[in-house]
Amino acid sequence: MGSEEITAGEESRSHFKQLLAIGLIASVLGVALGLLIDWFPPQGSTQAETVDTVWDVLIIASVPVFVLVMTVVLYCVWRYRMKPGEELKDGPPIHGNTRLEIIWTAIPAILLVGLCSYSYVALTDIEEAQANELRVRVVGEQFTWTFYYRDESGEEFSSPQLYVPKDRPVHFTVQSLDVIHDFWVPAFRMKIDAVPGIDTELRITPRRAGVYPVICAELCGLGHSVMRQSAHVVEQAEFDDWVQERAAAAAEGGGGEEAGGEAPDGEAIFTGDLGCGGCHALADAGTTGGTGPDLDENLAGRDEAYIEESIVDPSAEIADGFQDGIMPTNFGDRLEPAQLDALVKYLAEVTD
Ligand code: CUA
Repeated sequence: MGSEEITAGEESRSHFKQLLAIGLIASVLGVALGLLIDWFPPQGSTQAETVDTVWDVLIIASVPVFVLVMTVVLYCVWRYRMKPGEELKDGPPIHGNTRLEIIWTAIPAILLVGLCSYSYVALTDIEEAQANELRVRVVGEQFTWTFYYRDESGEEFSSPQLYVPKDRPVHFTVQSLDVIHDFWVPAFRMKIDAVPGIDTELRITPRRAGVYPVICAELCGLGHSVMRQSAHVVEQAEFDDWVQERAAAAAEGGGGEEAGGEAPDGEAIFTGDLGCGGCHALADAGTTGGTGPDLDENLAGRDEAYIEESIVDPSAEIADGFQDGIMPTNFGDRLEPAQLDALVKYLAEVTD
């Protein structure tokens, strides 16, 4: 590195060779380490392969740059350190080196343009529309996700958990009811903001059956860290069964918006659209959510008035160990009076 500028003669040449050797060995070790470390969760989508390859290319391109800079810095600190008796000495006055400056501007520029072009092509490729896409509408709100699907007849139904069939491309339309959230399934590698007032889009093709976390990746309020649900990647046949089941449950009146002719079913409301079970454990409904209080414990011996207040005005009394402002405050508006009544009666009955 411009050794002839700083010192002259055989000695500095041998130092330069040492520097180069150290830099090369450290680069090879750094790149090997960077590629060996298992940075990410399992590759849950076909997009994950491309994204992970982009990551590897970035490691290969950036580790040598980091090592080069660090080697030069550390070498200079050691070689040109001040020795006793040199306190008043100053280095020789030097002028810049035009050739060196052109080189250190051109190389990073080429590297940067190359990496940007490559990433752009990779991203465009994995975001391309596919044939036979499943459409899922994802709605974020403080502090939960709701996933909307259409059954065979075109009727919309919802789920507090994400279900997608393996190997079928999925097209998500992402929306928000309040503030900015960010829909992210790390195993799928793709993520996109949920912005109030506009629809954003995301495409993935699940390729590995399993259950993966769905995470909100945008600071959205007190409950941001608990805005987590799960994505279930299942075989197509299992997915079809699930759709039928959910659609039938929605038609029965489990939905928050519909008021059926028959008396609403409290348990269906609890496990339905509102996503109560996503946050609360309740043995009777088989839910295990841990974001909010365990209802078997918390509602034991409580009367209906207390349960109703907890639903429509969750801030009135906060259970020990939990924080105010996490549970949505709009359940009173979202439930028909008959539904609220059925839900309260159901909870009072099963937590007695
Ligand atoms: Cu929603 Cu963070």
